[in-house]
Amino acid sequence: MSEKSAFDVIVVGAGPGGYVCAIRCAQLGLKTALVDKNPRLGGTCLNVGCIPSKALLHSTEVFHELKEHASAHGIVCKDLEHDLSALMKKKDGVVDQLGKGVRALVTKKGVTCLEGSARILANGEIDVEGKSAGKYSANEIVIATGSKPVELPFLPYDGKIVVNSDHGIAFDRVPQKMAVIGAGAIGLELGCVWSRLGTKVEIIEFLPEICPQLDPEMSKVARRIFEKQGLSFRLETKVASAKVKGEKAILSLESSKGNDSLTVDRVLVAVGRGPCTDGLGLSEAGVEMDDRGRISVDHCFQTNLPGVRAIGDVIHGPMLAHKAEEDGVACAEILAGQSGHVNYDMVPGVIYVDPEIANVGLSEKQAKDRGIEVRTGSFPMAANGRALATGATDGMVKVVAEAASDKLLGVQVVARGASELIASAVAHMEYGGSSEDLARTIHAHPTLSESLKEAALSADGRGLHSI
Ligand code: NAI
Repeated sequence: MSEKSAFDVIVVGAGPGGYVCAIRCAQLGLKTALVDKNPRLGGTCLNVGCIPSKALLHSTEVFHELKEHASAHGIVCKDLEHDLSALMKKKDGVVDQLGKGVRALVTKKGVTCLEGSARILANGEIDVEGKSAGKYSANEIVIATGSKPVELPFLPYDGKIVVNSDHGIAFDRVPQKMAVIGAGAIGLELGCVWSRLGTKVEIIEFLPEICPQLDPEMSKVARRIFEKQGLSFRLETKVASAKVKGEKAILSLESSKGNDSLTVDRVLVAVGRGPCTDGLGLSEAGVEMDDRGRISVDHCFQTNLPGVRAIGDVIHGPMLAHKAEEDGVACAEILAGQSGHVNYDMVPGVIYVDPEIANVGLSEKQAKDRGIEVRTGSFPMAANGRALATGATDGMVKVVAEAASDKLLGVQVVARGASELIASAVAHMEYGGSSEDLARTIHAHPTLSESLKEAALSADGRGLHSI
């Protein structure tokens, strides 16, 4: 097919940024096409990221909970085993169902789906290679091609011994010993998945603490919990070099404590993600990039090339599905003549381990680094009645407020269900709420969410259930 179709908007990339942008464009009356090389829409998030990893995290959490804590509930589990292929099948089923859901949704909203790899041409057209091959023109093109795992130059992925997150959600057997390079979201989540299934996991982190987005005291609280669960951490440690020999990887490690080597049967590299811009013809079309290889855009997602915009992981900001979605909505509204806007200060981050780690806004350290005088309040989950009743006593909540105005600047939660608890903090902060507002908000009893209220009370030195 080599027809020339005229659309108002063509969105390239059908991840959460792209498909949400296409839906919003269609809702606003724009004739919209969505192109992706993968027949299953949903991008990294749905196919190899957020969704499959959360399915695996949940299944392994159930297994771990039964194995470690069933007896505390008076439940007798004998000869508990897992079946890896059934566990993977369950995950694949979730991905499949959601993939079909996204396609149905997009089609129902009136978006035309094209399948193939798109290249941007300078004249406002795209050239698609694949099932929907041909040239398509549009008044506006939105690039939403997402991101991919970064590779360490001395440790190329082979998908077997040296793996990234795409491979780490689909092992066909449980490795005996796995090194994870990077103690960020991916390292912790996949480290926990495989540790719960029996792998001895060592996480190697360059920085002095895990989860650098948190205050060091919260990172330490989290690390100690994961150490109790069986993960080991080597902090302030650099992987200087590595080699693969037969079925093993041998890593040379450097730290202030001296040099060491580590032999493992898998090494999962989780040192960050980089934007997917290859093969899009961006340099030929003259699209400017920033110093980190991301597409440069202004506050309207506009690149330097008229009629070409970009959203999500390929531009600035955290590489998170919900941030990409918000970019997509705002970009569509701008294209329809409205004033779309994203508040990048209020993007929550979550790591879905157990207990979960969630944060929004500034940490105490970040606020102080900006010269803001703050007061903080915290509350240990061990002092929360619901946590005690449900065996969720690991963790802590911390709130950070501006000293002068009491305005909430940030909230950090290490607790079971933190991914849900953080939502109320985001809402308070979105409306410019103070720590006093959070402290005076009625939280149902007994709930884990009371810990947020208590942390806010303690910021004013009047915690009711803490000493
Ligand atoms: P990350 O940037 O979150 O963490 C990478 C960690 O690796 C950092 O702590 C860094 O200090 C460390 N590191 C970097 N180079 C290193 C080296 N050579 N040796 C040892 N440590 C090294 O990256 P990650 O975990 O790969 O995630 C990538 C992106 O995907 C992030 O933007 C993350 O937010 C997002 N993501 C979010 C998830 C979620 O929201 N639950 C889940 C998975 C990914």
